[in-house]
Amino acid sequence: MQEVRFGIIGIGNMGTGHIENFEEGRVTGGKLVAICDLLEEKHKEHPNYKFYTDYKELIDSGDIDAVIVATPHYSHTYIGAYALSKKIHTIVEKPISVHKADCLKLIKAHDDKNVVFSAMFNQRTIPQHIKLKELIPTLGELQRVTLIATNWYRTNAYYRSGSWRATWSGEGGGILLNQMPHHLDLVQWLCGMPCAIRAFCEFGKYHPIEVEDDVNATLFYPNGAVGNIITTTGEAPGIFHLEIAGDNGLLIFQDGIIKVIKNKVGTAEFNRTTIEPWADPEIEGVYEYKEEFVPHLFQHAIITQNVIDAIREGKTLIAPAEEGINSVELANAMIYSTIMNKKIDLPLDPEAYAKVLEGLKDKK
Ligand SMILES: NC(=O)c1ccc[n+]([C@@H]2O[C@H](COP(=O)([O-])OP(=O)(O)OC[C@H]3O[C@@H](n4cnc5c(N)ncnc54)[C@H](O)[C@@H]3O)[C@@H](O)[C@H]2O)c1
Repeated sequence: MQEVRFGIIGIGNMGTGHIENFEEGRVTGGKLVAICDLLEEKHKEHPNYKFYTDYKELIDSGDIDAVIVATPHYSHTYIGAYALSKKIHTIVEKPISVHKADCLKLIKAHDDKNVVFSAMFNQRTIPQHIKLKELIPTLGELQRVTLIATNWYRTNAYYRSGSWRATWSGEGGGILLNQMPHHLDLVQWLCGMPCAIRAFCEFGKYHPIEVEDDVNATLFYPNGAVGNIITTTGEAPGIFHLEIAGDNGLLIFQDGIIKVIKNKVGTAEFNRTTIEPWADPEIEGVYEYKEEFVPHLFQHAIITQNVIDAIREGKTLIAPAEEGINSVELANAMIYSTIMNKKIDLPLDPEAYAKVLEGLKDKK
């Protein structure tokens, strides 16, 4: 079968990483033929590819079968939708769009299911995350998920590195739209979607920026379970710490090691059956899982390879783009809850949030 001819739109930090994956031979069955950026100088840096400054010209050129969209967030919606309308297989970087209404527009453009449409949720390829997904059902009924993700430290210089960064009009949010889509996707991938959120975002707490750089959120799940998400770009050293408590025990994930402490009898059954006033369920065992580490760009290569295999062999997608709406909805709901100063029921009203976001853009 013929190689899939790729184009990349947006040759910044991430687009350059995608180029490296092709050049280092980390994907097979696909080749990079063209790139696109608004800045002509990107061609000088990567002279081996056909170059376009207009994404529509690249998509209409007949040069490519598939595209990776690695531009700033707002443009994912219209560039992605244009590519899909022209039957070009599309990988869109996270977040798939800035807000839920745009996600719905983008998803609607995917009307031909023969066209492969994936999100770049590279963290779904991390072996530890795959193990987590496998282990969750063994915990039984979900009681609590707690995520502390403060390992996203960023400096003022980082925020100054692109004019679109950390602005409502350029990026549509801060840590929730840039760094956290990966972890919000992880939480929803593992535990499903909550039915309500109450959040406290702080805007420009640690940096001179207008968007959130510190978030403290409580999630309420349909079965009564609760979630807590704490994240910031202002703490160093940061930590990634995930706990998931279920009826059958507790899972802890930190420093790359997953530990599961399993109860012999589930807590609900133990409550009902024990006559002891001060007892805990007996521990059946403590299990540790250490998986191999996959370096950052290799994770992206696995997603790109998965898309090539989906195009050529009908392989199931690791990260169907349609699922990208969930992490956007969580992020939007956290900002919305802060602005409205109340608990927000999900599903979020897409138009109501889009209106609030417009107001934030105008505020300055
Ligand atoms: N999956 C990951 O691990 C990961 C990591 C970093 C960034 N990202 C995502 O990648 C995207 C880009 O981030 P970045 O850090 O590379 O940004 P960047 O600012 O470094 O690069 C963006 C590039 O897009 C170009 N561009 C802007 N609008 C364009 C348009 N309409 N047509 C063509 N080119 C255009 C800019 O000139 C720039 O070169 C964002 O969505 C970001 O969230 C993902």
